[in-house]
Amino acid sequence: MNLPPLNKCSIAVIGLGYVGLPLAIAIANQKRCILSNKKIQRNIVGFDLDISRINELNKGFDRNKISSKNIKNKLESIEFTNDKNLLKKVDIFIVTVPTPIDEKNNPNLIFIKEASKLIGESIRALDKQKSNKIIIYESTVYPGLTEEICVPIIEKNSGLIHNHPKNESTFFCGYSPERINPGDRTHTIDTIIKVTSGCNEDVASWIDEFYASFIKAGTHKVSSIKVAEASKIIENIQRDINIALVNELSMLFKKIDIDTNEVLQAANTKWNFHKYSPGLVGGHCIGVDPYYLTFKSQEIGFDTKLISAGRSINNYMHEYLFHEILNLLSKQNEDQNEINILLLGISYKSNCSDMRNSQLVLLAEKIKQKDLEITIVDPKVDRKKALEELGLKILLGIPKNEKYSIIIFGLYHEEFEQLSYEKLNKSAKNKTLIIDLTNKIIGENVIYL
Ligand SMILES: NC(=O)c1ccc[n+]([C@@H]2O[C@H](COP(=O)([O-])OP(=O)(O)OC[C@H]3O[C@@H](n4cnc5c(N)ncnc54)[C@H](O)[C@@H]3O)[C@@H](O)[C@H]2O)c1
Repeated sequence: MNLPPLNKCSIAVIGLGYVGLPLAIAIANQKRCILSNKKIQRNIVGFDLDISRINELNKGFDRNKISSKNIKNKLESIEFTNDKNLLKKVDIFIVTVPTPIDEKNNPNLIFIKEASKLIGESIRALDKQKSNKIIIYESTVYPGLTEEICVPIIEKNSGLIHNHPKNESTFFCGYSPERINPGDRTHTIDTIIKVTSGCNEDVASWIDEFYASFIKAGTHKVSSIKVAEASKIIENIQRDINIALVNELSMLFKKIDIDTNEVLQAANTKWNFHKYSPGLVGGHCIGVDPYYLTFKSQEIGFDTKLISAGRSINNYMHEYLFHEILNLLSKQNEDQNEINILLLGISYKSNCSDMRNSQLVLLAEKIKQKDLEITIVDPKVDRKKALEELGLKILLGIPKNEKYSIIIFGLYHEEFEQLSYEKLNKSAKNKTLIIDLTNKIIGENVIYL
């Protein structure tokens, strides 16, 4: 089978976001193959349609907070570009474009379809090719999407037939889900086992060896693209449902005056209890991926009751919190014009700048709609983007001389690690009222989810 040379191939990473950029850097970092210790000489193209992103990266700046030093070091080994012509010489395409949902919670496939079209056009067989191209999808999709949607688009735009049995001018696909956790310094790209798959046994082995050449944690090869796609999506669905369960329990326990945290600690003393904490689910993964599977299941007429229930509970949590806040405020008897709320953290999770699908953004919007004054502090997010796209003014730090009616401690960003009950108390009006979503603050009048 005519496949590109493993250690001397040229690679394009398509889409340089939270997933694509660290991946391109990890590939560039590896100078010798982990398996064979052979020298690696791979050309790497970092491709993104967003020219402002490319310009920033070429200046060594990453809006998602990879250090400037790390990026500048890679400018010799990664060519950051939006020039489609550079893709014509590439052997391996790795697709890391967004797979969001639309306003009806259906998969929005525009980016992955566009990327597939672009790849198809780039691999169009003009001359006889030295080796056949491999396209690896890493974007999260429902099982079947790569072969049912992306492959036909590449075939149409390249004039080639996928996985042609005689191997003459064909192309091959694979799928290897990304499992990184932005903001998490322990679980980084090369410390997480990479699930790999390919359209036939030889391609699957090539893709597996490729990732094993630079992922220190190793790989796990599965028998089909569909299995790899499904494995990723259920990892996030499992978290979504488990968090939804504890969220539902915590809402119930509050009504019957039981401390959820104490219950969870007690239950956790059993060997097979899995401890999850109540919390807000947002971002580009856990709050989105379940909809990809429910969409697929609807398509084939299967009703996924539990997955959908988990989504609706977790989507409701910002409203629940909002009602809790109104409830607490009503007990304070403060004049509506005097009320001011401090929200610490607005991104979708701690130590992450991503505001997509953040329940804290939705909570802030609800508070504003009610004409209540809110001060939002978040040192991680892009404040210009928050103002322009969401109309939310975000501060870097807590204003010194202000006193607040309620403090919502939303996220445990590293910049907030110094904040204790006593310190927060200094920003509170007469009686401290803290809603702590991080479970880190202990003191009187601290309320947990
Ligand atoms: N963010 C995460 O934590 C995470 C973790 C695991 C998996 N994923 C999955 O990885 C995929 C990418 O997510 P992300 O968070 O990195 O997205 P992102 O929005 O941070 O980045 C995507 C990049 O792709 C670019 N892009 C869009 N269409 C393009 C095209 N046709 N050609 C070239 N570039 C294009 C965008 O300009 C953007 O820079 C998604 O499917 C997501 O579900 C994300």
